[in-house]
Amino acid sequence: MASTAAFAVSSPAASAVAARSKVHGGGKNAGRIGCRVGITRKNFGRVMMALAVDVSRFEGVPMAPPDPILGVSEAFKADKSDLKLNLGVGAYRTEELQPYVLNVVKKAENLMLEKGEYKEYLPIEGLAAFNKATAELLLGADNPVIKQGLVATLQSLSGTGSLRLAAAFIQRYFPEAKVLISSPTWGNHKNIFNDARVPWSEYRYYDPKTVGLDFEGMIADIEAAPEGSFVLLHGCAHNPTGIDPTPEQWEKIADVIQEKKHMPFFDVAYQGFASGSLDEDAFSVRLFVKRGMEVFVAQSYSKNLGLYSERIGAINVVCSAPGVADRVKSQLKRLARPMYSNPPIHGARIVANVVGDPTMFGEWKQEMEQMAGRIKNVRQKLYDSLSVKDKSGKDWSFILRQIGMFSYTGLNKAQSDNMTDKWHVYMTKDGRISLAGLSLAKCDYLADAIIDSFHNVN
Ligand SMILES: Cc1ncc(COP(=O)(O)O)c(C=O)c1O
Repeated sequence: MASTAAFAVSSPAASAVAARSKVHGGGKNAGRIGCRVGITRKNFGRVMMALAVDVSRFEGVPMAPPDPILGVSEAFKADKSDLKLNLGVGAYRTEELQPYVLNVVKKAENLMLEKGEYKEYLPIEGLAAFNKATAELLLGADNPVIKQGLVATLQSLSGTGSLRLAAAFIQRYFPEAKVLISSPTWGNHKNIFNDARVPWSEYRYYDPKTVGLDFEGMIADIEAAPEGSFVLLHGCAHNPTGIDPTPEQWEKIADVIQEKKHMPFFDVAYQGFASGSLDEDAFSVRLFVKRGMEVFVAQSYSKNLGLYSERIGAINVVCSAPGVADRVKSQLKRLARPMYSNPPIHGARIVANVVGDPTMFGEWKQEMEQMAGRIKNVRQKLYDSLSVKDKSGKDWSFILRQIGMFSYTGLNKAQSDNMTDKWHVYMTKDGRISLAGLSLAKCDYLADAIIDSFHNVN
């Protein structure tokens, strides 16, 4: 007969604590009916212990809500309508709305297969050729900080894993510091800092009145933050708004960060994918580095090389002295080892081989330009359709001022719900649509849906 003790807890945090307490208090009593295993009621709210026969020990684990971004794809799959359109997740699609593997990636993979490369473990810091290539792509190959050994680069698990590793580093070495994140920001940023137990607060970024940048608010909030805060900045193609500061505004942001002795922390998930140019999209990061500032930069190859599920990216820390960069790198490795031990090799080899071969590098740049170009065409067509169809005189030109794969439509939650419930257009509830999931052929339909939702739903 299986007899177990089950816990009903009031929150996921309590659940985690309960689970931990259970392990600590387990030992030879674990699994016995009614073992109390060191649970105290007062520390984590309403913890109830249910004694039952044939009840799972996980009875007390509550259902987590669906992820606001990835959950959209699940809902999309369940919709049987022919009209349905998935503009939720930020993944590039062809004009036929099919996923796309870059030709240069296929070519690099074929060459790798021919060479019969091994699959043994990488070192904790990843593939050396990748780390060299990724820092050079980000900063420019002849950047003095690279030549002087000032950059600590560690291959990590795409953009998310790199951000998470940096968050763990902040938590360990800057436990008093908080991170400032833009309002709004990519949904996972808050999860990352919460899970790493790094306190954060928001700085103003989006101005609903202009559907543009609230630059004064942004500067004021960065200025008001405690000295030495980390300021998370989207290197280009801000997600979810698609609104980037101008070069002059970047200068001013750097001024304030420098004055307040804050630490800039760039999230670069779209280099080359926003404008079509790797150099142009690295402008902001290079500007800060040129000023001699120390910076954190998380990089991702999910979008620009279409390597989403290969989980390839890096964390770079530009330091002001070479010995420091070595020490920072050693500590990042120390954090990575118990988290995931070492990163995957396949994507790292693709990046290193593409960047290391002048012909393939050229082909990548061309394909990146084509992808960025398709998104720009769709953006233009959506604007044209809205302007022609909407007779109210509303100015939709903010769509053209946004950049990258997203457009922030300004639709509120109820209006976004209408887009999905009535028009089968799947998008996040903050009004963000991924133009990378849109075709020219669907722009008129989408414009009808937006106009209806905007004017007929409050
Ligand atoms: C702003 C931003 N940062 C980081 C990421 C991380 O992506 P990944 O972990 O797939 O590289 C994304 C992906 O959508 C993003 O938009």
